[in-house]
Amino acid sequence: MTHDLDRRLFLKACARTAIATAALGVAGRPGPVFADILDNPPRSRLVDADGAPIRASALEDNQTLIFNYPYKATPALLIRLDRDPAEGVSTRDTEGHEYVWPGGVGPGNRIVAYAGICPHALSYIAHDTAFLHYATGPTSFSDHDHVIVCCAHGSVYDPAEGARVVAGPAPAPLAAITLEHDPQTDEIYATGAIGTELFVRFYKAYKRELRKEYGRKAYKKLAEGDVVALAPEAYSEDVLDC
Ligand code: FES
Repeated sequence: MTHDLDRRLFLKACARTAIATAALGVAGRPGPVFADILDNPPRSRLVDADGAPIRASALEDNQTLIFNYPYKATPALLIRLDRDPAEGVSTRDTEGHEYVWPGGVGPGNRIVAYAGICPHALSYIAHDTAFLHYATGPTSFSDHDHVIVCCAHGSVYDPAEGARVVAGPAPAPLAAITLEHDPQTDEIYATGAIGTELFVRFYKAYKRELRKEYGRKAYKKLAEGDVVALAPEAYSEDVLDC
């Protein structure tokens, strides 16, 4: 079975139709439409550059790792928070569709992950330049600390609250990456993504660049198997500090 993006978009369109139909209330009025959740996402283990599993208990407070998920060419940002994340955060994706942020995993449920792609104008964590980073102190765009900042136009997100927008022009939170922690092995798995419309726009905007960097056939493939998670400075040549 192929796992390329085109097929997944077709399946998602079918699912969207089904959801919209099911959401019609008894009076014929449309009910809430829920955020797109990646269908049949890969369960991908996070490993370091040598292929050794990332252990949840080994992560330090405020440590950040960058990995590609759910697709081979879409960056994601993992953070080990130094505080308890909020629970039951209800929010909306870039399409205005509702979802409840699933929260974090591991010790204290403090390990969280989001797409490293800004919903405002799609600046992202690229291998040459990282427009997004996690800042533990105030930034040039806001007094908030312990936030994810997009240096392109100053959108600021709170990773402890589902990446809700706390400053700047972004219309929606960063897309959430769902994680799983295996308490037996202490390993971390990426298991899905919410708000996947963002990835559709991302691939349209950067098709030429992504094809060149990842290859014509590989650039739209799912990130299956082990995925390498690196420190921001190891993933990107230039991590913008704003
Ligand atoms: S692209 Fe991130 S703030 Fe504009």
